[in-house]
Amino acid sequence: MRKRTIKSIAVMTGGGDCPGLNAVIRAVTKTATNKFGLEVWGIEDGYLGLIEDRMHVLTYNDVSNILTVGGTILGSSNVVNPFKYPLTAGKTPRLAPGPVPGAKPCPQVAGLMRDVSDKCIETLHSHGIDALICIGGDGTMASAAGFAKKGVNVIGVPKTIDNDLYGTDITFGFDTAVTTATEALDKIHTTASSHHRVMIVEVMGRYAGWIALHAGVASGSDCLLLPEIPYRLDKICDFVLGRSKRGRRFSIIVAAEGAKEKGGEMVVAKKLPFSPDPIRLGGVANVLAAKINERTGLDCREVVLGHVQRGGTPTPFDRVLATKFGHAAIELLMKGVRGQLVVLKDGKISSIRLSKVAGRIRAVPKNHRLIKAALAVGTSFGV
Ligand code: F6P
Repeated sequence: MRKRTIKSIAVMTGGGDCPGLNAVIRAVTKTATNKFGLEVWGIEDGYLGLIEDRMHVLTYNDVSNILTVGGTILGSSNVVNPFKYPLTAGKTPRLAPGPVPGAKPCPQVAGLMRDVSDKCIETLHSHGIDALICIGGDGTMASAAGFAKKGVNVIGVPKTIDNDLYGTDITFGFDTAVTTATEALDKIHTTASSHHRVMIVEVMGRYAGWIALHAGVASGSDCLLLPEIPYRLDKICDFVLGRSKRGRRFSIIVAAEGAKEKGGEMVVAKKLPFSPDPIRLGGVANVLAAKINERTGLDCREVVLGHVQRGGTPTPFDRVLATKFGHAAIELLMKGVRGQLVVLKDGKISSIRLSKVAGRIRAVPKNHRLIKAALAVGTSFGV
């Protein structure tokens, strides 16, 4: 695939959806067709569509009027890995694969997987597709790196509300998720104040606390619990009681879903054994509400924002970033760049080798400027 001139490309969206995916699909398709006269194929439901040969040609009209629309017109899947695909998948469609290359396999599914990546490459060849644009997070990029290693012309585009993709300073979707979470926190503020309650608001982010940190600071929340800074329950209780004694009779605690007590474990909601990342976190807000109430006697309520953070129209920032990323992906491809992830680094669009990204995540550094600023204005991190 490497030596041919690029005439036809395919684009896919993998992993959990997020606002801005359609903006990238639009930028990729319009740049590829308008500027370079390429044919563009859209692969349905992420890698699942590639495995099952479900794809169609995308026209200019298909991608008109989608810039502001959340989700993805192509569909997505966050449980499919073409390098570890369940043996039973043909019989039980939509059930899917296991750990990304390099990740620890789930013991109960190890040995039940097969590598269907060659079949995917044959499918691309059968449609005359010369290159693949993979829009996704770390799971999608791990497989993209695998395809690049096998000679496929791949360019990755970094997506996720979690903002945890290694190699880029920001992913599109994050700004919208922060905006959604901040709006919710602002609303929770008034009801917390009226009822003199401790409100524990759980936000997404997996193993990184970027959403909790940014939405927490933006909303002026009182205590932020990040996976990167294990909390101490006694410190949280002292903090909310202290506020109460000073006449601040309510507190807002923002808990990242991956927040954990010092020496404790993250709260797991469920395990999906065939997924590239089998763990689904969730429930920390419930745990904290019960414990804080028991220790302080204060009235506590939990709110789990959940998938609302992945929905809705992208913010102007995300629309612009997604457009820049999509455009850059095609420009790089046509310049002969291969096996790279488009990134935003120090304010500039550039790229990094996909193999460097695979298997890593970008956590919040403990000495991050925003943590310092939050501490300076009296925000607690539960330590
Ligand atoms: O990676 C995006 C994300 O929304 C995480 O923040 C969250 O932990 C996970 O996906 C939820 O996955 P699912 O859609 O499978 O419940």
